[in-house]
Amino acid sequence: MCDLDLLSANVVAMADFASASGVSLRPHAKSHKSAFVARLQLEHGAVGLSCAKLGEAEVLVDRLIEDGYQRRVSVLLTSPIVGNAVAARASVLADRCDLAVVVDHPAGVEELAEAARRAGVEISVLCDVDVGLGRTGVLGPTEARSIAGLVRGTSHLRFGGVQGYAGHVQHVSGREERLAAARGAVDRLAVVVDALEAAGHEVPLRTGGGTGTSMLDAGLGVLNELQPGSYVFMDREYRDALGDDPEGKFHQSLTIAATVVSANQTGFVTVDAGLKAMATDAGEPLVVGQGEGVEYHFFGDEHGLVTTAGPARLERGDRIELVPPHCDPTVDRYDQMWLVRGDVVVGTADIDARGRSQ
Ligand SMILES: Cc1ncc(COP(=O)(O)O)c(C=O)c1O
Repeated sequence: MCDLDLLSANVVAMADFASASGVSLRPHAKSHKSAFVARLQLEHGAVGLSCAKLGEAEVLVDRLIEDGYQRRVSVLLTSPIVGNAVAARASVLADRCDLAVVVDHPAGVEELAEAARRAGVEISVLCDVDVGLGRTGVLGPTEARSIAGLVRGTSHLRFGGVQGYAGHVQHVSGREERLAAARGAVDRLAVVVDALEAAGHEVPLRTGGGTGTSMLDAGLGVLNELQPGSYVFMDREYRDALGDDPEGKFHQSLTIAATVVSANQTGFVTVDAGLKAMATDAGEPLVVGQGEGVEYHFFGDEHGLVTTAGPARLERGDRIELVPPHCDPTVDRYDQMWLVRGDVVVGTADIDARGRSQ
């Protein structure tokens, strides 16, 4: 379930923050995978979308077009793609949107250059820089310069800038600690930007940032575009990490609806949301609005155990809401979200890119 007013408030708050800070906002669609939410973000000033995977981008672009969204969407693929066949798919997509792709290896440039030339499309290429996460990205300025040089030598690619995503910093607790870690990450990106500029490459776009650091990154003067994703839903893990910090002030707009299917025991009831209902990498979900002592515990594939303080107040058939521990991989388990205003279901939104993980 997604509370529409809370979702909209989150979308507006991040958009207002970015605009007041003079940075662009390109929210990450990997968190919601929904053209409905993407459109809300685009209509509130986002310059475009970030997508983790090509499959995600293909589906979202098509759905936005199908739904009559008029502007040509700008999409950044934030993970490198590999192989001629995938590069060819990216070139097909580049016909339907303004496509930018990150690259962290010279072969990635060659594959994309050939595919874009054959398809007669232009693709923007950003050099992905490892700023400490160690997941993807070039390790330093030398590789970045060679990638930029290669791109400049092609006919259908244009060098768009750099990406430095500090995934390892997003959930650091304590604002000062997170700020110091975020500074360390963007400093690494700045070294690469300086080296590229010194070598004569323009670096128009410097993109990165997630929910935990975007509000800090904006003041550090290196990134000029932010790509937070989870802020639209604000899962339990993020709330625990960010607490009352300004970055933590987004509303928890997403919940899993669960029904009490058995209430025969003393001290707990059994609900129909188990391991299959949510991602379990970040611990347990939060039970909404049931007061002290009412906690969820995993109880197998299909069920959850919800403790009840004192005599059971929850009864068979009662409906409870759970804030997911980790939103992205939870949303990806569902076909649709119910959109609610207060207690009223006002519509549904498809999770269009569900399962599009490649
Ligand atoms: C490259 C990149 N940018 C941005 C984000 C958004 O981060 P968050 O959901 O923490 O806001 C992610 C999330 O994993 C990411 O991988």
